[in-house]
Amino acid sequence: MNKPQSVDLVIHGGTIVSDTHQFAASVAIDNGLIVAVGADHTMPAATERFDASGLHLLPGAIDVHVHFRDPGYDYKETWESGTAAAAMGGTTTVFEMPNTHPPTADPAAVADKLERAHSNAYVDFGVYGLLAENNVDQLEALAEAGVIGYKCFMGNTFGNLPSPSTGAMLEAFERIAPLGLRTSLHAETASIMAWRYERLKAAQRNDALAHVAARPSVVAVEAVARAAILSEWSGARIHVLHVSSGAELRPMAEAKARGVDITAETCPHYLRFNTDDYARLGSVIRVNPPVREAHDSDALWRGLADGTLDMIATDHAPHLPEEKHNDVIWDADCGFPGVETQMSLMLDSVNAGQLSLCDYVRISSVAPARAWGLHPAKGRIGVGADADIALVDMARAETIDQNMLHSVNARISPFHGMRVTGVPVHTLVGGRFVMRDRRLVAEARGQGRNVKRIQNMPAADVRNADRTLAAELARAPGAAS
Ligand code: DOR
Ligand code: ZN
Repeated sequence: MNKPQSVDLVIHGGTIVSDTHQFAASVAIDNGLIVAVGADHTMPAATERFDASGLHLLPGAIDVHVHFRDPGYDYKETWESGTAAAAMGGTTTVFEMPNTHPPTADPAAVADKLERAHSNAYVDFGVYGLLAENNVDQLEALAEAGVIGYKCFMGNTFGNLPSPSTGAMLEAFERIAPLGLRTSLHAETASIMAWRYERLKAAQRNDALAHVAARPSVVAVEAVARAAILSEWSGARIHVLHVSSGAELRPMAEAKARGVDITAETCPHYLRFNTDDYARLGSVIRVNPPVREAHDSDALWRGLADGTLDMIATDHAPHLPEEKHNDVIWDADCGFPGVETQMSLMLDSVNAGQLSLCDYVRISSVAPARAWGLHPAKGRIGVGADADIALVDMARAETIDQNMLHSVNARISPFHGMRVTGVPVHTLVGGRFVMRDRRLVAEARGQGRNVKRIQNMPAADVRNADRTLAAELARAPGAAS
């Protein structure tokens, strides 16, 4: 790329962080792209020169797991409020989940959601299509309509979308495999949970920990192992959402060792909380899958360090405060906002020595960019990449205050009151400030773009193509040859 004579913006004085290095350099940005990285005296003239002394420049976080509730539940969250929260949290790309109303299960629903996103988003976005029992014949059309990948609820959660049978899942995987797209799994087995829930409820176990009792980690272990087997058979790429237990790491590691194209995330709440926090937080901490034992958190940290877990995401799941508070745990909505607090919580853990800043860049940006084919346009601060940058102050301390969240209708957080050191202070998306000096830039609304435009998944590795249901149906007597 030729360096232009004069550019839109030069950021100088900061330290650039990649997944392997940290180095002092200036960054030149023009037309939304990074056009130069290097010593300040080599930078072109610029309309604006921005002093980032004392700050670290990270590639913006890519959160592959947010629920923005729009359409259908926009009293909880909207594309405007959800992406404002992302911008304020240093997150520059979000992938949004299909358990809206209507669910994102056909091309018309995708088109409707993309329109809402385009008119309101502060940050870049991708939209998941639903993989369910009753829309297996829509999967190719969803890809055409522009989904970034699929979401399959193996266990039910908010929205109560019925989980597909293993038979429907296998056919879906067979159809998705040649498309090369990744399917993200809510990997908890519905039938085990329903069985335990009925019995616990009938016995009037209504305490907060009864939620954990209904969904012990075997629920997730069984689902991860089963999904990995279907993925291995078909060649469909999968991603395990919100890994919550140490026990899931074994089927994850085994599947990776067998060459399954499987990735996984965990979330800050599984790293930060454990069953000791239920007494204090009550139903506010209710989330699917549940926060588990202290030994699970320890194992998840190890999984992030050794690569069994690839990335951090938030499962940003806003609900109204009155929907979260309930003495009967079964009647409290599951989940809470997370996209605005993820980076501060993780940077605080960097400061505490749990991981390095380079590790954080790997799990928050590089790994998701690679897994969904957005690299090299995203996930790095380098020439030719989108200028999506979180400028963070590693020395700044703040107390997380739920009343300040930009998820304005869902100001309830289990992280409320936690003191964190390490805060994003400015966020750029496509070269534009969306947060500046810890304030949202209102004019940036509606400027976010669909990342489908840059998605470039590696070629698919389809397996057992001659044994798929479609192949067998083609051998039926009446089938056209
Ligand atoms: O607790 C949860 N809430 N877990 C999920 O997987 C979905 C989410 C929601 O949509 O509320
Ligand atoms: Zn979720």
